[in-house]
Amino acid sequence: MCGIVGYVGKEDLAWGEHRAVGVVMGGLRRLEYRGYDSAGIALLGREGINVRKKAGKLGNLEDALTSNPLPSAHVGIGHTRWATHGAPTDGNAHPHLADHGRLAVVHNGIIENSALLKRQLEAAGHAFSSDTDTEVAAALLADAYRTLDPEVADDRLAEAMRVACAKLEGSFTLLAVHRDHPGLIVAARRNSPLVIGRGEGENFLGSDVAAFADFTRYAIELGQDQVVSLTSDKVTITDFSGAEIQGQEFHVDWDPSAVTKDGYPSFMAKEIQEQPDAVRRTLQGKVDAQGRITLADTDIEADFLMGLKKVIVIACGTASYSGQIAKYAIERWARVPVEVDLAHEFRYRSPMLDQHTLVLAISQSGETMDTLMAVRYAREQGARVLAVCNTPGATIPRESDAVFYTQAGPEVAVASTKAFLTQVTAVLILALYLAQLRDVGVGAEIGDAVEELRGIPEKVKQVLASERQIKDLAGALAGAPAVLFIGRHVGYPVALEGALKLKELAYTHAEGFAAGELKHGPIALLEPGQVVVVIVPSPIGSPILHAKTMSTIQEIKARGATIIGIAEEGDSVVNTWADEVVALPPTHPLLAPLLTTVPLQLLAAHIALARGMDVDQPRNLAKSVTVE
Ligand code: F6R
Repeated sequence: MCGIVGYVGKEDLAWGEHRAVGVVMGGLRRLEYRGYDSAGIALLGREGINVRKKAGKLGNLEDALTSNPLPSAHVGIGHTRWATHGAPTDGNAHPHLADHGRLAVVHNGIIENSALLKRQLEAAGHAFSSDTDTEVAAALLADAYRTLDPEVADDRLAEAMRVACAKLEGSFTLLAVHRDHPGLIVAARRNSPLVIGRGEGENFLGSDVAAFADFTRYAIELGQDQVVSLTSDKVTITDFSGAEIQGQEFHVDWDPSAVTKDGYPSFMAKEIQEQPDAVRRTLQGKVDAQGRITLADTDIEADFLMGLKKVIVIACGTASYSGQIAKYAIERWARVPVEVDLAHEFRYRSPMLDQHTLVLAISQSGETMDTLMAVRYAREQGARVLAVCNTPGATIPRESDAVFYTQAGPEVAVASTKAFLTQVTAVLILALYLAQLRDVGVGAEIGDAVEELRGIPEKVKQVLASERQIKDLAGALAGAPAVLFIGRHVGYPVALEGALKLKELAYTHAEGFAAGELKHGPIALLEPGQVVVVIVPSPIGSPILHAKTMSTIQEIKARGATIIGIAEEGDSVVNTWADEVVALPPTHPLLAPLLTTVPLQLLAAHIALARGMDVDQPRNLAKSVTVE
């Protein structure tokens, strides 16, 4: 949610002439997944600060820089925006200027007291030209800077940042450059992420390491409520009171080739096809030679898990649907009660949790602010937090008691596909592990499920082979004004995920329902032409649920709606009633989401393509939602 890049090089390096603009723009390209409502850059050179900013995707800014280049500089800050305060216009794009154009600021996060601060600053004579909270922060920083004794010289901008931050509420990463401090960027962070990259005679800042991993693998984490002063050869970190702090160094383990399209037309197409490998990697090392689940690399004590009284899953969006699948699996196999909560609802409902509660925080990015705040709340209440995360070193795993890393690899397309499948894999592994530890009498079923799980990557591959059929189906459905998705048991969260994917990618109105709920209201929507996608349980693995779903299908048919069944191959009953069936290999009922989700991803992606949408960067979205 907003991407931030900073670069400081040496003024006298011949090769550094156009380095700042190249590094900052390259970093923004890597961070564009964080928001693409506008982009902007400020370069600090001998003559002061020069800014270019443009509404829309980064390409607009690139075009503006090509037609009207900026003078060379050795210091730069850049921003790619996901709009919060103010429409996505050129004027609201960052960087924002203050101090008569001598100070430039970029910001990620939300400053919750910006309205009050703005009124105070306006009363003191400040005029604002944008609707953003960022411009308020810039004005506050300029104010603090002005009132400080110029004698503090080199540290004046950092001190002003500390003074300003003390007045800000909410979440923020701020980067500032000032024309009186050539060769310096000052940055601060509270809640929103920021990492420092250390180079040779040059240093970097980024919302994540992707911003600078092409240039250096040496990084330092900026902690909560810290300020950094960055020059080409020095990194000085303090807390908000000014006390110097030693930053935590780490090595960046990041493969830039993992974020290329590799010949696929889109990242989404590539990531959907990568799912068999992503699931295989997530399973790797989790099943021993005896077919037992092992979580040796997940730092959570067996004693605690054996005495567990409750599991609460917290997550948002697609990740929360993997949490709903966790509920079915953990309750069935390990007999521990599970609650699933959207992270942003969790801490406002006074949940009951204690030292016997395991909170499972599921987050692909590991940066989702709603989930992070819920993690902090859960730990304050004494619960143990296990993060399920796809991003090594992200804030949520760092702040949790233990972490299970999914192995999807970098997910670039904004809508989640392979990360979801690996989240489902992870929660199934966890459920099986809990069942093993607690030995609640479902031993034979556990053995079968583990065996089946090992064969899942191959079955996902078989499902992917139905892409041709789904593409044709998508062509026929591209004009549908609305699509309904229904499912029972673990098919219900899959229905929710199918509907979310279609909304996000194709901007088609879509709703997911528990199939049994249809008759309690949504059935009123049915009429000839309405498309209903039905996730059909296995007639062999779940005969009772299958029979109930068949009754629902007949109720839909009776209203003349069009039925698309996602069903087990050889299911002759569904073949009789559905208008079209996508047939999947059989599997254990609790593992079915690993297969049934895949055709829904393909369907949404192909409908979106047929409607001419950008499947990698759907409108209004951002990959990493770092505001509450
Ligand atoms: C939808 C999607 C989102 C995320 C949600 C949580 O395709 O990707 O709904 O699942 O924003 O994100 P993470 O998992 O990063 O916490």
